[in-house]
Amino acid sequence: MTTTRSFPSRRTMLKGATAVAASAALPSWFLEEVMAQDAPAAPRSQNDLPAIALVGCGGRGRGVAKEAQRFGRVVAVCDVDSSNRDGGAADLAASQRETDQKLNRVAPGSGRQPGKINTYSDFRKMLDEEKDLHAIFNGTPDHWHTLINLAAMKRGKDVYSEKPLTLTIEEGRRVVNTAKETKRVLQTGSQQRSDGQFRLVCELVRNGRIGKLQKVTTILPAGMRDGPFQSRPVPERLNWDMWLGQAPMVEYVPQRAHVTFRFWYDYSGGTITDWGAHHNDIALWGMGIEGSGPTSVEGKRLVEPIPGGYTAVPEYEVKYTYANGVEHTCRTTTADTIFGSEARKTEPGERRNGVVFEGDKGWIYVRRGVLEASDPAILKEPLPSNAQRLYVSNDHSGNFFDCVRSRKDPICHPEVGHRSVSVCHLGSISLRLGRKLRWDPQNEQFVGDDEASRMVAREQRKPWTYDIV
Ligand SMILES: NC(=O)c1ccc[n+]([C@@H]2O[C@H](COP(=O)([O-])OP(=O)(O)OC[C@H]3O[C@@H](n4cnc5c(N)ncnc54)[C@H](O)[C@@H]3O)[C@@H](O)[C@H]2O)c1
Repeated sequence: MTTTRSFPSRRTMLKGATAVAASAALPSWFLEEVMAQDAPAAPRSQNDLPAIALVGCGGRGRGVAKEAQRFGRVVAVCDVDSSNRDGGAADLAASQRETDQKLNRVAPGSGRQPGKINTYSDFRKMLDEEKDLHAIFNGTPDHWHTLINLAAMKRGKDVYSEKPLTLTIEEGRRVVNTAKETKRVLQTGSQQRSDGQFRLVCELVRNGRIGKLQKVTTILPAGMRDGPFQSRPVPERLNWDMWLGQAPMVEYVPQRAHVTFRFWYDYSGGTITDWGAHHNDIALWGMGIEGSGPTSVEGKRLVEPIPGGYTAVPEYEVKYTYANGVEHTCRTTTADTIFGSEARKTEPGERRNGVVFEGDKGWIYVRRGVLEASDPAILKEPLPSNAQRLYVSNDHSGNFFDCVRSRKDPICHPEVGHRSVSVCHLGSISLRLGRKLRWDPQNEQFVGDDEASRMVAREQRKPWTYDIV
């Protein structure tokens, strides 16, 4: 089947957002547990609001910064597009006022002027000048995550970084090591781990509720397929050279930049790294795979990109094997828009984006707001008191700020973010090479394939290196 995915309208995007907000009907025993679990510690006083900065003020960056304003104070924003930078500052100043009002906070913390948000175009300058900054929120495109995260941690800042944590597998190891060396807290923005319904499913699977786990299927929205595109003059508001950063220099093409950067290999990996960083993360959590990964990967391209257009494979099927013998398939569906909302009615038996766990005694299917099982008893029966339970976080941002205080590992600490996105990168590399690859998850190396081995890292455009700060 060949599809050309065009950009969904704002209306479709809003429809998707509403669907996500309507949460799944959790079984009552689990809902009671969630309600009894401690809410994240509320900020204690005005001077106990850590100063935070947002780098990358697009849609997601602003979203997570607004969440963070419940626990901290945004004092600076940075963006290489002056329109997003200034719009982000104004937006966040307004949301800070609203949050302060709602939480009955009157004075700003840290002796700062009320509502003042400093604006920057270069995160290095921001790190130099914002002396009392405690943490950064990183909402830049994927090819910028690691450089900014490393720079911030080396400057003593904690980090909340959007998923996918990295652009390459090799970057992930750097992030894990730097977080350890600098003793910084880093939360990866794979927020499904802080959503009770995903935790419930992983606990049920791990405790044998569907019998012996045999198969996991992660279903991701198909990516965009469009082009060829024309280059255009760079808009005055945008520093294109700085937006490109470590990626190869190319002429400005609007489709390469905001939002649709995720469908270009130079900056991301397509939906396998975008949605894959959510659903493949849950696959690993449910399988109980920590600090490891698959032993083989075989990607099949179902639809080819258009020459001169988006470069990431839009529709695909990737098969993984693991030492535990579970078969994992990661494949696309055209039933979802790229934002995960409904694109068309599903055929009987067809599933939209989500994760399916299949055991020898039943199955469970989960996606945001939807929870189904082969037998309702699978979900309804409470877990026994001796069951294996998982890390509890019911608020991804709150969990980060709890850990900023306690110095404990957040739910999506760097090794989690790195291992989950490694599954996605492995799939992406196999799709590009068009062959089955063997992977050594302990040493994080391909076995017997030099070409694949070279794709574990990428060449950086000068002057960008991981040691810029
Ligand atoms: N957790 C989630 O559910 C979720 C949802 C959406 C997006 N995301 C992730 O968030 C990130 C951003 O996605 P988006 O859709 O908001 O993208 P976007 O293109 O709307 O925003 C990115 C912003 O970063 C800016 N930027 C680029 N390079 C920069 C640099 N060096 N310094 C400062 N600013 C820079 C861009 O100008 C732009 O304003 C992506 O990694 C994406 O995968 C996560």
